[in-house]
Amino acid sequence: MSLKTPQSFNFPFEEFESSSALNIREKELVEKAEEIAKDAYAVYSNFSVGAAVLLENGIIVTGSNQENAAYPSGLCAERVALFYASSQYPDTAVKAIAVTALRNKQPLDEPVPPCGSCRQVFVEWEKRFKQPFVVLMAGKKKIIRIEKASWLLPFNFQSDFL
Ligand code: THU
Repeated sequence: MSLKTPQSFNFPFEEFESSSALNIREKELVEKAEEIAKDAYAVYSNFSVGAAVLLENGIIVTGSNQENAAYPSGLCAERVALFYASSQYPDTAVKAIAVTALRNKQPLDEPVPPCGSCRQVFVEWEKRFKQPFVVLMAGKKKIIRIEKASWLLPFNFQSDFL
């Protein structure tokens, strides 16, 4: 028998038809993600991802996925951008991340959700800087906006368990 009545996770998100509906900073963030995605090193999957990270000091750091002939040695765009941001500005919190993708160089209509490993890194960053950050998943026809990155990974692993 279960201890309690069944429970559920539930979080709000917004959907927009285009980046013009976003505030100016977030619109810019999506545009930067779109730009950097074009330069991804995605020769094996032909799936090019771009990520743009807005820092609390107003600086935007971008990254794209970097693949490798030894497939697992590659890295997702989100982590390239976040790790680079953290290397350059180790004490500066993240306010938002925008993610977008191209398949065979064509922008996708639908937003692409970050992979589980990237979500785990998002959780670490929120805990580290003691504040939530916004995730924008941008497709040509739809943009999803989530206020708190860690909502994307319920039952996540955190340093408290160590
Ligand atoms: N990829 C990302 O860059 N971000 C994600 O969140 C999902 C996947 C990359 C990894 C790989 O280079 C390619 O997309 C196909 O999986």
